[in-house]
This record gives sequence, C-alpha cells and structure tokens, in this order.
Amino acid sequence: MKSKLLAVLKENYPEYVSGEKLSGELSCSRTAVWKHIEKLRKEGYIIKAVRNRGYLLENSPEAFSAHAVSSQLSGAMLPYHVNFYRVLSSTQPEAQRLFLEGAREGTVVIADSQTSGRGRLGREWQTREGKGLAMSIILTPGIPPYKAPQLTLAAAVSIVKAVKKVTGVNMEIKWPNDLLINGRKACGILTEMQSDPDQVRSVIVGIGLNVKKDDFSGELENTAVSLEEAAGMELDRADLASAILMQFASDYQLFLEKGFKGLKDDWEKHTCTLGRTVRVEQNGVYFTGRAESVDDQGILQLRTEDGRIHPVVSGDIEL
Ligand code: BTN
Repeated sequence: MKSKLLAVLKENYPEYVSGEKLSGELSCSRTAVWKHIEKLRKEGYIIKAVRNRGYLLENSPEAFSAHAVSSQLSGAMLPYHVNFYRVLSSTQPEAQRLFLEGAREGTVVIADSQTSGRGRLGREWQTREGKGLAMSIILTPGIPPYKAPQLTLAAAVSIVKAVKKVTGVNMEIKWPNDLLINGRKACGILTEMQSDPDQVRSVIVGIGLNVKKDDFSGELENTAVSLEEAAGMELDRADLASAILMQFASDYQLFLEKGFKGLKDDWEKHTCTLGRTVRVEQNGVYFTGRAESVDDQGILQLRTEDGRIHPVVSGDIEL
C-alpha cells in the first residue's frame, strides 16, 4: 500500500492527486488514504494536502538521508560515519553527546531540521524542515586549544570549494565564519571545542547552509540568501553535504600537516574581508580599521587610523 501510494504521488509530481483518485487507485476508502498519508508523514515524507486539490509529495526522506550522504563518501580521507535525524534541537549537542559516548573522529551529525539551532555569540540559527543543511563533524585533531578556531577558517575554504564544484556559485568568506553570496549570508560555521589545558579533546565543526529558499524571519529577511536562489536551480542537500565532507577531509589533512598556513592562499583567494575597512567588536569595544591580512594562525591584522596594527583573534566584524 505504502509503495503504491508513493508511486502514484511521484508519478503525478508536481501535480496534486485528489483523494478520490488515490482511493480508486489503491482500492480503499478516502479515510484509509488519509491514514496512510499520516503514516508516511510520520516517516518523514512531506506531503502537502490542499482542499479540492488533493495531495502533493513535496519531499521524501530517502532523498536526504544518511545513506544518500554516505554513499557518496567513498575514498574520503576521514573515516566518516553519518548519523541522520529528522529533527534535533541542534546537531552540536548531539555530536557532543555521541563523542562522550565514544564516537570517533569523522562522526557526522545531520538534521533535516533544528528546533534550537545555535549560531555564534549566542545567536539563533534557523534550520527548517526540507530547507537547509545542518551538519556537525566530530574531530580529534590533537592540537593546542588556541589553534581550534583555525578549523573554522579551514572549513570555510572547504565549503567554498565544494559549493563552487556542485553549483558553480562563488561564495566569499567573511572572517571568521560567514560565507556570503553577493553580500548576503548563505552559510555560517560554529566551531566548539572541549579541551584540556594543553590539548583539545574534541572539536565540533557545525555547518549551517541555506539551501532552499525559506521564509526567514527577523533581520534575516534582508540579510540571508539561499544557494538555490543564487544558483537558479534545484539542489540536492545530500550532494552538497557529501561534497563538503569530501573536500573538508582533504583540507583537514593539510591542516594537520601544515596548520592554517597550508590553506592560507586558498583562504585569501576566497575572502571578501581583506583590503576593506571593517568595524570589529571585541568584548564590547569597537575598533575600525583596514583589514590588511591574516597571519599564519588565521588572526586578522587590522590597521587602525593611528597606523597601528591590532591583531583580532576573535569577534565579529562588520564590512
Ligand atoms: C553562525 O553563523 O553564527 C554559525 C551558524 C552555525 C549553524 C550550524 S547548523 C549545524 C550546527 N548546529 C547548530 O545548532 N549550529 C551549527
């Protein structure tokens, strides 16, 4: 019954199929059709129901699943293991929980939607069902804690390269963790670590990518953009996730061998921060200056009006 119902909905996509037609095709009552639709929804199928039109299959869980991602990861330079969830509060604490339970480096947590997605600096990150890519990667790089933020810059380079490969879209890196398309934010990275004084125990790199057009709320309405809008074509989240993971695995090896220095040229090629006058907020204090360079540790070098260089280790910048 389930496969027949799905087959009819798929055959007719993007048209709606009336309840009457479905009950005829499946030889059951319209109430039974409704019950099967409800069951499919619980399994993660997104089925729209509109009075006088019928049902439309908008999204299938098999289209975005652990298998859809991991089947495209063979030969990756990290031993990836993908965990997929329909809903999580946030992929970050779930990754942390799995790490504490013994999950190894390369464990990935992906959620179709997040109810309390986290951004940097205590901000919120919206990931609605069927719309975005919310993914956290567990790493155990054995580096001193001060180096962990460099993984944000490394991930940014990987995402820009992977997105270009899959969609042809050029993203730009706004130091340290934003990826923009024509000045609008399409992706954010949140790197969180658990550390001993000399060495990190784990780093969880969280990636939030706006893939499908969404009704962003609040200030995001004017500042966010989706990859599909920029690419002008439909995109597959599993393809994007796997391309990012493949690229990140090889950039991460380079990072382990050479540090951020090994990725710096690529980072500079893709940033929109350098050469611009930027305003930096650090612990409530604002500086304005020209973003001159990043050093080999990924620290932003800001030349202020008095001609002095201010190294900016963390914080948020306004272009
Ligand atoms: C930012 O731009 O402030 C960072 C946003 C990071 C969002 C991602 S989505 C996957 C992971 N889970 C979260 O709750 N946050 C990160």
